[in-house]
Amino acid sequence: MLFVCLGNICRSPLAEAAFRREIGRLDLDVEVDSAGTGNWHVGEPPDSRAQAVARKYGIDISTYRARQVKPDDFRRFSHIVALDRDNLATLQRMRPNDAAAELSLLLDHVPGRHGQPVADPYFGGDDGFAITWADVTTGAEALAKRLVASG
Ligand code: 4NP
Repeated sequence: MLFVCLGNICRSPLAEAAFRREIGRLDLDVEVDSAGTGNWHVGEPPDSRAQAVARKYGIDISTYRARQVKPDDFRRFSHIVALDRDNLATLQRMRPNDAAAELSLLLDHVPGRHGQPVADPYFGGDDGFAITWADVTTGAEALAKRLVASG
């Protein structure tokens, strides 16, 4: 399961953290990572506000490091989950012809929230990160349930 946003320092690291927590709770064995379609923050830890919101819920994401999506990701991961439509469109353009990865939007997995983006909190205040955390935990729970249901 690969989560993808723009910078890989705000939304997708939080989605990765929330999903790791879910698969831990459900005792599932799944490879999980996150990446960005952009390269501005490659090698950097998550935004300090993203680290703070994760820490508030007992999760340390300070060792995560941003990286950019690469063609091999479409072979390595069976599911690639975008945080918004722009990044989903970028992934659809990038996907190699021979790659089987299923692309989706995170909130498409949540009943009643089909088509909704997880808003980019980067240019806003701290409350934006609380909304991001709420959205990614809702999405992560729905995705994990779906994995269990599909065996
Ligand atoms: P993210 O947030 O895509 O959720 O990691 C952003 C981080 C950085 C930028 C944009 C969004 N940026 O323009 O540098």
